[in-house]
This record gives sequence, C-alpha cells and structure tokens, in this order.
Amino acid sequence: MRLDKLLANMGYGSRKEVKQLLKKGAVQVNSEPVKDAALHVDPVKDEVTILGEQVVYKEFIYLMLNKPQGVISATEDDRDRTVIDLLIGEHRHFEPFPVGRLDKDTEGLLLITNDGKLAHELLSPKKEVPKTYYAHINGRVDETDIEKFAAGLTLDDGYFTKPGQLRVLQSGETSEIELTITEGKFHQVKRMFEAVGKRVVYLKRLSMGPLELDSALHLGEYRELTEEEVAMLRNEKG
Ligand code: URA
Repeated sequence: MRLDKLLANMGYGSRKEVKQLLKKGAVQVNSEPVKDAALHVDPVKDEVTILGEQVVYKEFIYLMLNKPQGVISATEDDRDRTVIDLLIGEHRHFEPFPVGRLDKDTEGLLLITNDGKLAHELLSPKKEVPKTYYAHINGRVDETDIEKFAAGLTLDDGYFTKPGQLRVLQSGETSEIELTITEGKFHQVKRMFEAVGKRVVYLKRLSMGPLELDSALHLGEYRELTEEEVAMLRNEKG
C-alpha cells in the first residue's frame, strides 16, 4: 500500500495534507526518514511513525454505542441527528454504519462498524442472532402473554413471528419485562406487544448475540469493542 494512502486511511489528513507531513520529515518507516509519498509499505510488517508516534494500522472499526433517544440509526439524515453524529472524527473517518436499526425512541446497545461482511451476517435472518430487550409495558403482562410469545404471534401485517422468550420482571399497571427474539422486523417488539393488546412505553436493547451492553456506558457514550468481543461476534455469525 502507498505510504500516503496508509496515513490518510489512518486519519492523519487528506492525501495532500499527508504529503506536507512527509515533506516536513515527520514520517519514518523502519526508523528511516521518508519523504516519498508513493513508497510502498506493508501496513502489518513495516513500522511507520509520525513525529515518533507509531501508526497502528487497522482496516475495520467496531464500536458499541449506548444509543440515546432522539437520534436515528442511519449514517445521514436531513432532519435528525444520527448515531454517526455522536462519534468523534477519528472514528467517523472509518465511515462506519449502524448494524441494524433501533427506533428513534429506543435506547441501548447498537453496534457500529465498517465491516460490511460481519454486519451482513449478524443481520442475516438465517443466523437467527438473539437480541434481548428490556421494556416497560402499559398493562399487566402475565403468564398467558409468556405462552403467546413462546408460540409466536401474528403481527398487524399478517406476519407470524418466530417464538419470543418473554420474562416478566414485574407485573402491574405498568409492567417490566425482558424479551429475547431472533429476528428484527420493523418495530418488532412494539408490534408483538400490540398483538396482545399492550403498548411498549420504554424500550432498551441489552444484548445482540454474545455482545452485552457495557453498563459503564452512559446514554450517548460509546467505546471500541475489545478483541475478545470481536472474536465472539465472529464466532456467533458462524
Ligand atoms: N423493536 C422495536 O419495536 N423497536 C426497536 O427499536 C427495536 C426492536
């Protein structure tokens, strides 16, 4: 890979800005100063530094966001702020996108990456990756609902869902529940509750496959996945 491309890809500026850095003698390859932008480097084997700081090459980025309400799961939008607007430039530079969607008023775990292959496989209906949600429901959720969810429900458009595992944490005028489903139809959790005559008033995603929302992340905060988490996700997609 050309040296200027490597540095631009890693967020050190445009190709033109990177050329200026090279001209100034700020860049070394294997401890030798280099000014040639076209020099071919191996991003894994060669040691590239800028002003003494090592350039760590990576192609993909994997971020876990605790999505707040009010932002939409898209890369751009004319009206609303998107989840990508919550990222700092260093991460936006990788041109990541959200893996699937959470509604504007849904909070919680959202994976953001530029690894299209992993995203595609995590979203593939065939893989049936489980997703767990925590919700507040307007109405008393009881044993009958647990059975109905387990049997599968017919949604407003006639679609018959796969079984959902419903756990009632608290049953009352407003109930607290956790629900695990293995598909991701539009507004699925809300529509499953509508199918039993109840309404979701608060929704938060807790996990996606083996990936669990980090409780240290406040709403709107995010962090890179650990190598272990990325490896778990790769295994999940099987
Ligand atoms: N189901 C919903 O209804 N909304 C979400 O955001 C996610 C799942």
